[in-house]
Amino acid sequence: MSGKTFYIETFGCQMNAHDSEKVVGALIARGYEPVETPEEAGLVLYNTCSIRDKAEQKVFSRLQQFKRQAGKGKLFGVLGCVAQQEGERIFERAPHVSLVAGSASYTRLGEMLTRIEAGERRVAGLSLDTGETFDTPFPRRDNPHRACITIVEGCDKSCAYCVVPFTRGHERSRAAESVMAEARGLAERGYTEIQLLGQNVNSYRDPSPAAWDFAALLARVAAIPGIRRVRYTTSHPRDFVKAIVDAMDSNPVICDHVHLPVQSGSTRVLAAMQRLYTRDEYMRRVEWIKTARRPCALTTDIIVGFPGETGRDFDETLRLLDEVEFDSLFSFKYSPRPKTAALAMNDPIPPAEKQARLLVLQEKQRAIQIRRNAAWIGRAAEVLVEGRNQALGQWIGRTSDNRILNFTHPGSNGDSLEGRYLPVRVTRAGPNSLVGESASMV
Ligand code: SAH
Ligand code: SF4
Ligand code: F3S
Repeated sequence: MSGKTFYIETFGCQMNAHDSEKVVGALIARGYEPVETPEEAGLVLYNTCSIRDKAEQKVFSRLQQFKRQAGKGKLFGVLGCVAQQEGERIFERAPHVSLVAGSASYTRLGEMLTRIEAGERRVAGLSLDTGETFDTPFPRRDNPHRACITIVEGCDKSCAYCVVPFTRGHERSRAAESVMAEARGLAERGYTEIQLLGQNVNSYRDPSPAAWDFAALLARVAAIPGIRRVRYTTSHPRDFVKAIVDAMDSNPVICDHVHLPVQSGSTRVLAAMQRLYTRDEYMRRVEWIKTARRPCALTTDIIVGFPGETGRDFDETLRLLDEVEFDSLFSFKYSPRPKTAALAMNDPIPPAEKQARLLVLQEKQRAIQIRRNAAWIGRAAEVLVEGRNQALGQWIGRTSDNRILNFTHPGSNGDSLEGRYLPVRVTRAGPNSLVGESASMV
């Protein structure tokens, strides 16, 4: 084995990305060294996603790809949602794998690594029976300005299509005191943006006697000196209460953006999905957000072709897009997942029809985004500078309402602007991003 070196590849959502930061921190604390490629690494880890079938397939193709490198002291581990879902079957399908662990077992990562280091061939961490959250003191953050904090792990909803309750276990909220301590520590180390994470972030409930709800936690994190932006994702409409908008209204540090997945515009389909809200109830939340004191971007997720979705149901989703005018959306074709209630539902919609609905939806949304982004031309917005596009001679910025705003800045004399907050005037707009010029002199 090439010393204690590791390589990790991450698939899936932001929670998985942040879990990987924690896993990397825990590995480094144990004396492992990160390397750039799987070829160089003694330990190769895949942190996996199984939200849709395609995501799940990725890990098996990776494992296949590197199969011949197994042995010779090289170890492979599968973490995350596919690990939890497939469990020890992974050892049979890919015999060169030594470690299979779901996210609810990461608190035992150290112990599992000790066993592997001692030569144990197959180590599994698959219990979902935990009340704990994975609060490693050493997360290795990928971004020097924006830091994620997981505040809720797992999910207690049971949406009929969704594998997450089976891959991440019961909902567990982290103690507010521990969240606040991490956020204060981040501010002291110079981070200016914090992103609060949970599959269902707004069902947060502080387990300590103070019992803060999500809106209370959000307001307190936003009040930490040095923190200039606070984001949060993902909100479930059922738990999205007016107090969250009130907190946003009273503190501009809370970003002007809500991601509120609707999944369908048809109350009938929403009921079949077990989403626990109607179209009207969703629209009430949209109304709160649209009448917030500051203009606020609203984005969503939509599934087309859920079993039993009729042409009329789909039309209701299209009408919802016209009514709400989302600033962007993620759209997916329904993908059957193991153990979920929807598996048993009759699904007569032909795949070609699902694909056609997806394209119609995406085309409509593209037109909406072109229109909404064009309304920004001539206005100024503050961006956090995230990077540089050398080829275009532009800096890459992000607005509080989560738009990408690429801009030129003639006065920078080659100095990096990354991590700075700057006013930028928008000059052009496309469907997915804005272009502008710096409105400040440096
Ligand atoms: N917790 C979030 C969703 C997380 S999963 C929520 O409740 O909104 C991210 C998105 O993946 C979902 O919003 C949904 O649109 C999509 N998704 C989840 N399961 C899916 C499936 N089986 N097929 C297609 N899309 C799915
Ligand atoms: Fe899945 Fe529903 Fe939980 Fe979101 S709320 S993670 S869609 S079960
Ligand atoms: Fe995927 Fe698991 Fe996230 S299934 S979307 S990595 S919670």
